[in-house]
Amino acid sequence: MLFDSLAKGLRKTIIAGNWKMNKTPSEAKELLEQIAPLVKDAECEVVACVPYVDLATAVEATKGTNIKIGAENCHWEEKGAYTGEISTGMLKEIGVEYVVIGHSERRQYFGETDETVNKRTKAALAAGLKPIVCVGELLWERECNITKEVIGRQIKLDLWDVSAEELKNVVIAYEPVWAIGTGKTATAEQAEEVCEYIRLCLKALYGFEAAQGVTIQYGGSMNDQNAKELLSKPNVDGGLIGGASLVAEKFAAIVAATASEY
Ligand code: PGA
Repeated sequence: MLFDSLAKGLRKTIIAGNWKMNKTPSEAKELLEQIAPLVKDAECEVVACVPYVDLATAVEATKGTNIKIGAENCHWEEKGAYTGEISTGMLKEIGVEYVVIGHSERRQYFGETDETVNKRTKAALAAGLKPIVCVGELLWERECNITKEVIGRQIKLDLWDVSAEELKNVVIAYEPVWAIGTGKTATAEQAEEVCEYIRLCLKALYGFEAAQGVTIQYGGSMNDQNAKELLSKPNVDGGLIGGASLVAEKFAAIVAATASEY
């Protein structure tokens, strides 16, 4: 195997919740206060990506804890006539560290393309935010046996013009679209196969060492039951968690599943 388990120990394992359009500010505060004591001894990086209006409350509620806060999107322009959009500078100023970019729901429902994913990614990096760039194939693409073509294309386009230095702050989330919110998880073998392929794509673009350093998460119905097995794979460096991140005990159990996994 080109990228073995040994190298995994060199990478940052990241468990990130993606709350999507859930929780009001007061509910966000409550959930984060429940999560904080449960994950305080985490061996991995713990992130909660929350709706825009919850961000300031979330940053405040997690002060002095090991939980980092992320947004679920950002615009690529610094400011201007973009009604309804949020800039990276706005996020940065309130203490946001991560930002999810190109989630399949944004691609599916809001016209997100690889070109806009790329613009957002570059803007996030320029602002000093850490983008969690989501890639993944549709069910029919998997059935047509073009998963690798789809993923390879997304990686190439989404990271176009991102330098090797900037890549150090990029997190990739492999989220097969057919596994998101469906209760249908990719098997650990399927997740590993694609995560390893993503690393091979990164190697082709940036070289072996750079590729070896990138955190690649799996996302798609990851929960407290299946996390351990998924996270045991050499190229699965964490998870992007939707549904299960809204329940403190479940999210904490996934965080705990990263402990001494290699
Ligand atoms: P899920 O969502 O865990 O609810 O499948 C994952 C995601 O969309 O990031």
